[in-house]
Amino acid sequence: MAGPVLIFDSGVGGLSVARSLRQHFPDAAMCYACDNAWMPYGLRDDVTLSARIVAVCQAAVQACQPSVLVVACNTASTLALDGLRKALTIPVVGTVPAIKPAAAISRTRHIGLLATRATVGRPYTQKLIESFASDCIITRVAADKLVLEAEALLGGISPNTERLQQALSPLWQAADTQPVDTVVLGCTHFPLLKPWLEALAPTPVNWIDSGDAIARRVGQIAPVLKNGQDGRFFTTASADTLGQGFAQYGFCIPSRLELSA
Ligand code: DGL
Repeated sequence: MAGPVLIFDSGVGGLSVARSLRQHFPDAAMCYACDNAWMPYGLRDDVTLSARIVAVCQAAVQACQPSVLVVACNTASTLALDGLRKALTIPVVGTVPAIKPAAAISRTRHIGLLATRATVGRPYTQKLIESFASDCIITRVAADKLVLEAEALLGGISPNTERLQQALSPLWQAADTQPVDTVVLGCTHFPLLKPWLEALAPTPVNWIDSGDAIARRVGQIAPVLKNGQDGRFFTTASADTLGQGFAQYGFCIPSRLELSA
């Protein structure tokens, strides 16, 4: 199992997970694959999306020969983890909304879940809430527009604070409950926007993402994480506007992913 860690997302969101992985394993070789031709995933139909995710990940694994696949996408993981594990022979680490750690620290027992429309509605997410946060109020917010803001940011365009504010506003509106004190960033794109989100919150809240937990899990599964840089990033459509953004995270070698028909 000597290959790099392969990070997969629909778009640039997995870079927030790459950042956490680098903090834990500065010498790990990593490559990245994104399905930017089909991004955003959060608005796609489940059946076609599920098959697409398996096809793209199979092609990326073929191209990259990794030791482990990190599905750095809540929308993909809450839908297709089982299918991916069946289709691939390497270990697969998924990303799911960090409901458990959020419930462990929320004092007001009112948690916000900011994710794609698909993720907030998935049975997988409902199960997480029932298992780990059954005593909490969960305000679920479908914030697909933030995915595009994060994509634009990596292309060099500052986020539109009005759009961010609009997306966040349902979190602060519940008048007859304790206020939200903890927000789960249940989409890997959103940690990339955290400085802006923090600045827009009316009171300080805990912003929780899954990056650290994923890095710890990868460390358990793939203990040899010292084999140096890889730096390739694979895309399914042109990545001209994203090259500099990827380079900031150590992915400097672009390559087009070819899918078999
Ligand atoms: N980054 C993905 C996630 O964690 C979703 C982005 C999309 O909708 O494509 O859910």
